[in-house]
Amino acid sequence: MSNAPFVRWLRDTSPYINAHRGKIFVISFGGETVADGLFANLAHDFALLHSLGVRLVLVHGIRPQVERRLTEQGATLRYHRGLRVTDAAALACVKEAAGAVRVEIEALLSMGLANSPMAGARIRVASGNFVVAKPLGVQDGIDFEHTGEVRRIDTEGIRSQLDSGNVVLLSPIGYSPTGEVFNLSAEEIATSAAVALGAHKLILLMEQALYGADGASLVQQITTGEAEALMTAPDSPVPDAVRPHLRAACLACEAGVERAHLLDRHIDGSLLQELFTRDGVGTLVSQTPYEATRTATSHDVAGILELIRPLEDSGILVPRSRERLETDIDDYFVTERDGLIVACAALHAYPEAGMGELACLAVQAGYRGAKRGERLLQHIEERARQQGIRQLFALTTRTSHWFRERGYVPLAIDAMPLERQQTYSPGRNSMVLAKTLRASSETGGP
Ligand SMILES: CC(C)(COP(=O)(O)OP(=O)(O)OC[C@H]1O[C@@H](n2cnc3c(N)ncnc32)[C@H](O)[C@@H]1OP(=O)(O)O)[C@@H](O)C(=O)NCCC(=O)NCCS
Repeated sequence: MSNAPFVRWLRDTSPYINAHRGKIFVISFGGETVADGLFANLAHDFALLHSLGVRLVLVHGIRPQVERRLTEQGATLRYHRGLRVTDAAALACVKEAAGAVRVEIEALLSMGLANSPMAGARIRVASGNFVVAKPLGVQDGIDFEHTGEVRRIDTEGIRSQLDSGNVVLLSPIGYSPTGEVFNLSAEEIATSAAVALGAHKLILLMEQALYGADGASLVQQITTGEAEALMTAPDSPVPDAVRPHLRAACLACEAGVERAHLLDRHIDGSLLQELFTRDGVGTLVSQTPYEATRTATSHDVAGILELIRPLEDSGILVPRSRERLETDIDDYFVTERDGLIVACAALHAYPEAGMGELACLAVQAGYRGAKRGERLLQHIEERARQQGIRQLFALTTRTSHWFRERGYVPLAIDAMPLERQQTYSPGRNSMVLAKTLRASSETGGP
């Protein structure tokens, strides 16, 4: 039997594993999720993320568990603006439900059954008084009593737990400095924790997915500006069940969290698919567009090396040492997609000759054929123009036709800047191709 699909799958997955390692992810899920039969699978997926080095903060809800307790007591359920009014009876149910749900989650995360996918994985769960709360008070004449809002997140306490390798579990409860207990919304805690901790991702598991105006196609990516417009549109397609999550995602991204993901919790494995596959299965919310090309920084060195090493090994690119890459990093440009470097290229300038070299152009294997290479080339040509470069050249052994189809023509080796001629390797016998760049003012239409 061929192992090719497995090998390919593992290779495709490894860049994501590297990108996620050491990052803080805050994941929120409702009490419905815990009550569902699929929750054991989700708990295993949490364990898997933890074992891959993701620093996890889990935030759970308790709404159905509190409602069941209140109904059993014959008490009335009171809500205002989607938030529970927590009177003394409701607070007692909140405390009970939070304790019971927390224990259930801790038990599942402790499971070391031999036949479970995460057999042998030892996970320590830390929960406690990490959320400082204040009362919501009276709004529209309604006294919310023991319903509160987040006043502060004990980031130091949470970070020290994460640093010790623990998973942090937060219940929708907060404590005031006066010793009172408040019922909070899980989404608010998750958003506040993600912002306060500078999390890389806020992931919200919801009861249904977010579909676009046609009601059938999943919204895969959305910026915070587009999300606000979608929520306030006259015939907004955003259902009530999704609104608090989308709003939380926008708030978090506006406050500095890089990405928020909205996932349909009914899809088994949605968390793993979202985090380890190219297109995911949920909605990615970000403040800036999902994919963008920018100047590289020293933080990108590892990502660039990962992208170019296979091409160096197969002789397509000239090998570069990490030190050389670090020294030249200001010359590099990267295309980043959800934190992953999917393409790179460098522009080395020879100002005295009015020339520039386009080097190290590479697009990650699974992302080719979608004009990323061409867009990066245009980006670099534009930068070169801005730097006053009149001619851009590239050395290539196997990609000459790609450049020729984009206006590049052969150039004699001795027409390159003198310094570059001295480092030209005759053994490699690369072709030199060049394009004369016209200033932006010369390229414009009528
Ligand atoms: C060359 C490369 C950067 C193009 O990236 P990309 O994002 O796929 O580029 P685009 O989508 O803009 O262009 C794709 C087109 O180029 C073609 N193409 C890809 N590699 C090619 C090559 N070596 N020679 C000729 N054409 C090539 C594709 O077949 C496709 O053409 P089609 O749409 O007619 O089928 C990418 O294939 C790559 O990283 N290759 C390995 C590294 C490399 O060769 N770098 C250049 C070193 S000088």
